[in-house]
Amino acid sequence: MKLLLVGSGGREHALAWALAKSPLLTKLYVAPGNAGIAGIAQCVAIPATDFAGLRDFAVKTGIDFAVIAADAQLVGGLWDVLEAAGIKALGPSKAAAVLEGSKGFVKDLCMEKGIPTAAYKRFREAASAKPYAASLGFPVVIKADGLAAGKGVIIAADKTESDKAIDFMFEGGFGDSGHEIVVEEFMEGEEASFFALSDGVNVVALAGAQDHKRAFDGDKGPNTGGMGAYSPAPVLTPALEKIAMEQFIKPTVAAFAERGLSYMGVLYLGLMITKNGPRLVEYNCRFGDPEAQVLLPRLKSDLLAALLAARSGTLDKIKLDWSGDVALTVVMASGGYPGTYEKGHIISRLEDAARLPGVTIFHAGTENRDSGVVAVGGRVLDITATGKDVAETRARAYAAVALIGWKDCFFRRDIGWRALQR
Ligand code: AMP
Ligand code: GLY
Repeated sequence: MKLLLVGSGGREHALAWALAKSPLLTKLYVAPGNAGIAGIAQCVAIPATDFAGLRDFAVKTGIDFAVIAADAQLVGGLWDVLEAAGIKALGPSKAAAVLEGSKGFVKDLCMEKGIPTAAYKRFREAASAKPYAASLGFPVVIKADGLAAGKGVIIAADKTESDKAIDFMFEGGFGDSGHEIVVEEFMEGEEASFFALSDGVNVVALAGAQDHKRAFDGDKGPNTGGMGAYSPAPVLTPALEKIAMEQFIKPTVAAFAERGLSYMGVLYLGLMITKNGPRLVEYNCRFGDPEAQVLLPRLKSDLLAALLAARSGTLDKIKLDWSGDVALTVVMASGGYPGTYEKGHIISRLEDAARLPGVTIFHAGTENRDSGVVAVGGRVLDITATGKDVAETRARAYAAVALIGWKDCFFRRDIGWRALQR
């Protein structure tokens, strides 16, 4: 079957790499892709934001199935645009992507279903939000309701910061996504993510992972999309994974069905493991980036068959096998990320690094030029390794990182520290 994957980051390279192994696949197109993806699929120069262009390409090319990887496209309704033109796609739909598109909606759903999460209230104006925030005590968490490119959460240390954050959001600091806000209690604990696949009725567990959101070693510095990840997440014991499915994922999918919203696609459950047990931090409606880069190398079953089953309502027939190995990825980024950075520097020794044992390199922000492969993004490469334990896997990944370079590149040297400490 002919497949179209939409996106261009490291997550999309990992998805393309896993999908390319499927015996069901005849041809894989990726729009727009990157230099690494171009080595295993046909890249099509249509931006992920050009919904009409993607639809027209899919119709003209006779695409049998499309996979939409990113939140902006899912919340923006690309699934609906493709399906309206007769192209089967892995969603969720725009209506069901509210799972990630509205934090307030998800909190209300948690209340209704008894899903453990932080105490909260939703607000549409600052005057009542400020005293509620103060009543929760500090630190307190202020969230823009909608998507804000991963930046919509402010943890306020005191009343001054909290009032400032609330005013900032209502004054349009995060654009439209802050017209409504959620004020919630600060939860203490260790964060982990758990992934599952749903066809609207049936759910299948994927696996757990942990990422490193801060830019610098020791979890310091500004928040990023993620500077590294590993799977499995040792903090997620088998007992906790069972709780994640039974007390979080299943009631959520059921609540969507009760609202007439069939949730078809990936559920990314962000958990805080507190001393009183796991509590929901947030949901996303897609694979994580860089979490996909460590989940997919551990999946022994056919990813395409599983995603098709999620679209067709037949996930009850799917059983997934996972490798017991550890996977770990180190993100190599451009100097300055998550702020401004230079583009166009040539990356050296990629091939040498890729030949090391257990190493797979996923490209995130690269382009093929006449001069070679160049860095064009903030996050540029995901140096991924598999191995029998965290120590071996991390050594393998960093051996590859040591070979690769370009002007001003940087990376964290402590990916996996929590897992190693256990
Ligand atoms: P989100 O965009 O919802 O993932 O939030 C970004 C980050 O803010 C999370 O990964 C957590 O580290 C932190 N966070 C969000 N909500 C809370 C909370 N209620 N308590 C503590 N930390 C939180
Ligand atoms: N790594 C965090 C995310 O994909 O949202």
